[in-house]
Amino acid sequence: MTTPTGEHRRPAAAAYAAAADTARRAPSIHNTQPWHWQVHPHRLDLYADTTRALPGTDPGERMLLVSCGAALHHAQVALHAEGYDVAVRPLPEPARPEHLATITITGAIPVTAAAMRLVQAVQLRHTDRRPTVDVPVTAEQVDELRRIADAVGVPLHRLTADQVTDLVVAVSHAEDAAAAEPVLQAETHLWTGPSRPAGTGLPPEVIPDRRPETDVGERDFGTRGTLAVGGGHDKASTYVVLFGSDDDRAAWLRAGQALSAIWLHATMQGLAVLPFSQVIEIDGTRAMMRRILSNLACPYLVLRLGVADPEHALPGHTPRLPFDATATIDDTAR
Ligand SMILES: Cc1cc2nc3c(=O)[nH]c(=O)nc-3n(C[C@H](O)[C@H](O)[C@H](O)COP(=O)(O)O)c2cc1C
Repeated sequence: MTTPTGEHRRPAAAAYAAAADTARRAPSIHNTQPWHWQVHPHRLDLYADTTRALPGTDPGERMLLVSCGAALHHAQVALHAEGYDVAVRPLPEPARPEHLATITITGAIPVTAAAMRLVQAVQLRHTDRRPTVDVPVTAEQVDELRRIADAVGVPLHRLTADQVTDLVVAVSHAEDAAAAEPVLQAETHLWTGPSRPAGTGLPPEVIPDRRPETDVGERDFGTRGTLAVGGGHDKASTYVVLFGSDDDRAAWLRAGQALSAIWLHATMQGLAVLPFSQVIEIDGTRAMMRRILSNLACPYLVLRLGVADPEHALPGHTPRLPFDATATIDDTAR
């Protein structure tokens, strides 16, 4: 395609396929990558792939939807960096709830340096379970992330010191509840242990080699990894929560888009990000988190933001499924 300003773009079908490829790097619960793309000549369809769902951990598919929302936003970022403006239609087929979204190119836009930086951040972004150092996250950094989440339609709240104390209790309750459920433990082991499905799950390089000395306890995967965590803690970390008024599929998908947007920007700010979803997965602790938000809203995801200890090496990248396992190209789009 040639735009009115004379810029050349690859054809829409190729750009859609490239976007589905970029979206492979999106974060997902236990690195399950529970999405499937269908690339058509004039649209890109996102489906939930429930063969990689977590029925024990995530029976309501909330975290599956957040993960798919993050993949959706990654695809949008890729198309913007190709110089394409897009429209996203969430849940386009009410009778097929697994059809999560349709992305359609609506026109050409200039390729900006900001769009290029954002798509480059996709390659750099990762989950960081190393404790943080005594360098606080600034109010300006949080304000920027709040604006970015707001632009996606999902408010972001920075927890006060008292609310972080409540979070410590909620996380500890969630940990106890998960430890008492053999089904949950078996599911976690499947995605983090040696027999995790190829191209998915958490390898030992991203799991701490010992329990970090943080006030808010990190998720216990039931296995020790090889990620050196040192003696850092989380005293200078900032905890934020993405929230909203609705508890339906569209809201959780949107939360995932917001998660991707703020995580990519936090990456550009040099901040380490760690999601805490266990308190949201478990009904009782989700209710506790709701109370922390004064019962006014539905909490979608808690995130720790901080500056990672530069003395310890970055965690490696988690693996990804090959393109063909997460996307199908309609023959007419080849
Ligand atoms: C919805 C969601 C929930 C997550 N919850 C947790 C969590 O509770 N604890 C944790 O250590 N990581 C959590 N993660 C991070 C994933 O494990 C991580 O995204 C995945 O392993 C891929 O690794 P990467 O982010 O480094 O690319 C979560 C990610 C998503 C998208």
